[in-house]
This record gives sequence, C-alpha cells and structure tokens, in this order.
Amino acid sequence: MTLSSAGWSPWVALMVVGSLYVFGGSRAKRSLSSGRAQCEALAGAAELPGRMVVIGDLHGDRDALVEILVAAGVSDASCEWRGGQDAVVVQLGDVVDRGPDSEGANACLRRLQASAPGAVFRLAGNHEVIWAEGDFRFASRTETPAVRSRLIRMWLDEVSAGNVVGAYAAGPVLFTHAGFRPAMLAKVSPDPFAQNPASVAASLARLVNSELRSAVEKCSGIRCAFEGDLFSAGRDRGGNGVGGTFWTDFGILLDADADALPAGLVQVVGHSAARCSARASPKCEPIRARQDLAAVCVDAGLSVAYASNRAYLEIRNGTLVTLTRTVGGAWRERDLTAEACASDNNPPDSDGRSPPLQDAL
Ligand SMILES: *[C@@H]1O[C@H](CO)[C@@H](O)[C@H](O)[C@H]1NC(C)=O
Repeated sequence: MTLSSAGWSPWVALMVVGSLYVFGGSRAKRSLSSGRAQCEALAGAAELPGRMVVIGDLHGDRDALVEILVAAGVSDASCEWRGGQDAVVVQLGDVVDRGPDSEGANACLRRLQASAPGAVFRLAGNHEVIWAEGDFRFASRTETPAVRSRLIRMWLDEVSAGNVVGAYAAGPVLFTHAGFRPAMLAKVSPDPFAQNPASVAASLARLVNSELRSAVEKCSGIRCAFEGDLFSAGRDRGGNGVGGTFWTDFGILLDADADALPAGLVQVVGHSAARCSARASPKCEPIRARQDLAAVCVDAGLSVAYASNRAYLEIRNGTLVTLTRTVGGAWRERDLTAEACASDNNPPDSDGRSPPLQDAL
C-alpha cells in the first residue's frame, strides 16, 4: 500500500494503528489496571521530596529558564537558590542547540546547583550527547566553536562528577530525557513487571547513570562515540537498535499498551516539544500526559526556537500539577493526578490502552 497524499485518510491511519495493536497486544493482561497502579504508587510514595519543580528542554533559552525558576519560587533572577529545604529542581536535558544562549542556560543551571547542593538534578539530553559526538547541525550560529568546545568539556566533567546524570528516580517516578519504550525495557530488564515501581525506577536509573558515566570515561578529549542500546536513536529515527532513553518520541509512550509499561511506574520525560502556543491559544496544553500517568512529557516548547511557552510540572507530595502561563500572562494550574485518579470516568479502553489526557495540538 502506498500512501500518496490523495489516498491518505484517517481510516487508513486507523487501520494501520489498529492492526499494530491487534498484533502487538498479546502480552497477558495484569489484574490491576495500570492507571490505578500509578495513582496508588504516587499516593503511597514516602521517598518523594515535598515539592519537585520539573523543567523541560531549554534549547539555548536562558530567559525561559530564569522566568520559570523565579515563578516557581526556587531561584532569584541571578540563579541563586531560593527554594528552601524541601524543594528540588529537575531539568530534563537538551540545554543546548537551536536557541541563541546555550552557554547562559547552562551557566544558570550550574549556579543554581552550586548554590543548593543535593537539590538540583540536571539530566543529559540527546543534544548534549550529539555535541560530544561532534554533531553541531542544530547549533545556533551565534555560538562560536570555542564556546561549544568549552561547553562540551564542562559537560563531560560534570557527568564524571555526577552533577549531570542520565536519569533520576524519586519513588515510582523515573526522570529521563526521553523515556524507556516497551521494547527498550524488555531489552534492559529481565522482568520489570515483577518488582514494585520504586525498585524499577531505581534500578533503571542506576543502569542509565552507570552507562552514561562509563561512556564518558571512554571519550578522547572532548570527542566521544556513544555506543550501545541506551544511546542509539532507534531504527524509527534512522539510527540503530530499538531506541534508547535519549531518543524516544513521546508518541511512542503515549500509544504504548498500558500492559507493556510497568504498573505504577511514572515516566517523566522531555524530548518531544509541544508545537502549540499557550499564549495564543487557550486550548494549548504544552505538557502532555497519558491518562494513566504512566508517561508525562514536560517538553513544553520553552525555547524561542519553538513556541516560547512557559510551562512546567510540579510534583507536590506525589500530586502532579502542570503550571502554564496562558493568554493574558496568567498562570493556570492543572491537577493531572486529580483528573487521572479521582474518578473511574476514563477507564482504559478494551485493548488496555489509555487515551491521552490532552494533546498539544
Ligand atoms: C507536603 O506535605 C507536608 C506535610 O504534610 C506539608 O508540610 C507540605 O506543605 C506539603 N508540600 C506541598 C508542596 O504541598
């Protein structure tokens, strides 16, 4: 079947997608519906910090970062910590590329982290990875090669020092740049379904972190060759393998069969930018989530290279709340946990998938 633009129709899409689920949905159903499992895991998580401020891909936009840090009350305008004792900040990687000020965005995160030891978790994204591989296709023309080299050197040192990590786990919540798709989970973990979600999150985070650190140790100067499944882009992006945690498009997590993701695990990722503008359209939801909260994408399109959106996620004692600056410049809160957990109005459909809470477009 060829899909010319004239022949393409929603029905074709439905047939293609439908047949994938028919043939891909053979995994045995679990007794506990996955959505319920995420709600229970979040409600019972003792290991979570009181307040987590989660910020998506920055792509060279220091101003976006500072505005959000200040709005969240965790920093002053010069990136000094003001978040007190209970808050933590998680930034999901892709600090560099596309926008004009990768260096400024990186410097702000460094300063914030230095002023609050143990409270700031900085993740590596695929754009940091490709810089270290010498790929500057997406770099801003305003940055000189000397600036890039300096940033790579710094990034490698910070990975070695543990200031920049590949993943961070807090209770059942696993933060990675782009997430574990089912095929990747099956590859790295013999049976993630047999453990409780906090152990799954912790062991997956340990795996990503040790792989990133040992990969960085093998670099020669500031040139690296990242090898192995976790770093590969995946055949569906023109690379190799099933696709690792730096490269998973959010659509894959959104569409995955609920039973193919470990019950109770909440994957919080960046990587797939929202394309709508929250300041132009009240319908725009820059932060997207599965109805069952098994995956949440915080890549709000913050950068001036995208939509200059202002949106971030807070996890308040296990409750997921999105904060979005909307038309008119007001901040709007949306409680994803209340929507997902307070009612049985949206049970997973018959093949075990959950419809998305909202879409960006
Ligand atoms: C989390 O719970 C503690 C204890 O009940 C409370 O003091 C704190 O304000 C809560 N934090 C948030 C962000 O709701």
